[in-house]
Amino acid sequence: MGLRSVGAWIVLICLAAPSGASGPPLCAVASAHPLATRAGIEALAQGGNAFDAAVAVSAALAVVQPWGSGLGGGGFWLLRRSDGREMMVDGRERAPRAATRDMYLDRFGNVVPSRSIDGPLAAAIPGAPAVLAHLSEHYGRLGLRVTLRPAIRYAEQGFLVGGAYARAVRMREAALRRWPAGTAIFFDHGRLPAPGFRLVQPDLAVTLRSLARHGRDGFYGGAVADRLVREVRHGGGRWSLRDLDEYRPVERKPIVSRHRNLAVTTAAPPGGGAVLIEALNVLSAYDLSRHEPVTRTHLVVEAMRRAYHDRDRFLGDPDFVAIPLNRLLSLDYAAGLRTTVRLDRALPSVHFAANAYPEPEGANTTHFSVIDREGNSVAATLSINYPFGSGFVAAGTGVVLNDEMDDFAARPGTPNVYGLVGGEPNAIAPGKRMLSSMTPTFLDDGERFAIVGTPGGSRITSMVLLATLDFAAGAGGHSMVSRRRYHHQYLPDRIEFEPGALSTAEVASLRARGHEIKALERPYGDMHAVIWDRRSNRVTAASDPRGEGSAANWP
Ligand code: GLY
Repeated sequence: MGLRSVGAWIVLICLAAPSGASGPPLCAVASAHPLATRAGIEALAQGGNAFDAAVAVSAALAVVQPWGSGLGGGGFWLLRRSDGREMMVDGRERAPRAATRDMYLDRFGNVVPSRSIDGPLAAAIPGAPAVLAHLSEHYGRLGLRVTLRPAIRYAEQGFLVGGAYARAVRMREAALRRWPAGTAIFFDHGRLPAPGFRLVQPDLAVTLRSLARHGRDGFYGGAVADRLVREVRHGGGRWSLRDLDEYRPVERKPIVSRHRNLAVTTAAPPGGGAVLIEALNVLSAYDLSRHEPVTRTHLVVEAMRRAYHDRDRFLGDPDFVAIPLNRLLSLDYAAGLRTTVRLDRALPSVHFAANAYPEPEGANTTHFSVIDREGNSVAATLSINYPFGSGFVAAGTGVVLNDEMDDFAARPGTPNVYGLVGGEPNAIAPGKRMLSSMTPTFLDDGERFAIVGTPGGSRITSMVLLATLDFAAGAGGHSMVSRRRYHHQYLPDRIEFEPGALSTAEVASLRARGHEIKALERPYGDMHAVIWDRRSNRVTAASDPRGEGSAANWP
């Protein structure tokens, strides 16, 4: 296995003699943790395809990054088969049957934010285990007993945690300490863990074994389901056995669009791809390469503002609300939006609507990219929402439950933890999927094919937008994942930027155009990209220098 790490970030360029087939010369995996990447390579080395590797990586991430995703959460797995067929497996969590529109409001009708963030009332019905079974049954070759082996091994034998784990536990300490099952697993004899702490998760290993042996019924039925429901209800949540029994992943047609000469395939609602495409369409009339960098930034921000505004107004679970997707994604619609874009002035978001907003916080979620030698590809972005989700572990299962209920509009018009102001289409309803920013994406200009995505809450879609524009301008994987980032999400009405993303002169110039600017203290995102360059027959995999991930090739 070719696995190399260079400091915090890793880039692998895989060169091999052309195989003669039409697929790439080598397989590649890029994920947020070296052990997860290793799990994917193990599946490929055993004769598995990219879909087997995706199952192995997803399950391993549940063990080695329990704050970012897991069996208690969900996500979107964007697939491309070697025959070119593309689909999105929607494993987004669903509100339980007993959920109500007002469940997070106090008696005065005000949102009580902690209720949708901490504890089992915040948890929606998980989708990840059902997707692992679905991928295995319909796309993979090896079966769950093989692909879940590395995850089970990591859970049983444990592994040494790094700094990211220690930071995530510290951030969610209060929530995690409220319930003994999680405290016993994630703390070091009751103390905050330091890097080097060995995390062993025997209960999670048992749950993974149940899934490996019995498929989806090993999680959504039997002893695991009984425990999940009992513990959730005991903690004040509203799950039922029927909720678990009824959960099914949905195969959706991804959004497919063009940006200049680039084919873009991305997550359909309830994922974040519509926002990406709308922003790209607004930008399609500008030759960004002809503008000076600060004007380019201004135009990209104005496109983000308009696309995120429509997210708030129109997007929700397509199985519950009618989304005018054809209109939102049309070039005519983008042309209409562009009529209010000026090169010299920002159009304040107050002209669209007014709202209060809190601070978007936190790192969460995870992304990985995989390709095999037949060209089968997976871009998967998975989440339990906030770091360590709801902070609640159902005792005896080792499963950290999500707090994705916060991605609904607890009260339409009121912002969630990321400052996103959901609208009526994203109101809570029983059985409904909450809107997401997750945007796993394929980019193809005919000569190069890229598999890309990132975690990062509401900033996910804007990060993928910047990476797409970079790719369209000829950038490679390393610069896409490591570039400095900026963000605008309509509300709060300001540009946020990472250290180094904008110069002092650029900040002054943007302010002069009317933008409010906020310099962030810390970098954000953890992007992982795989690029197959058909011209040179090279496969390049790159992991974001901000994270602890790794990229690897096989053989
Ligand atoms: N939980 C973050 C998202 O789905 O957007």
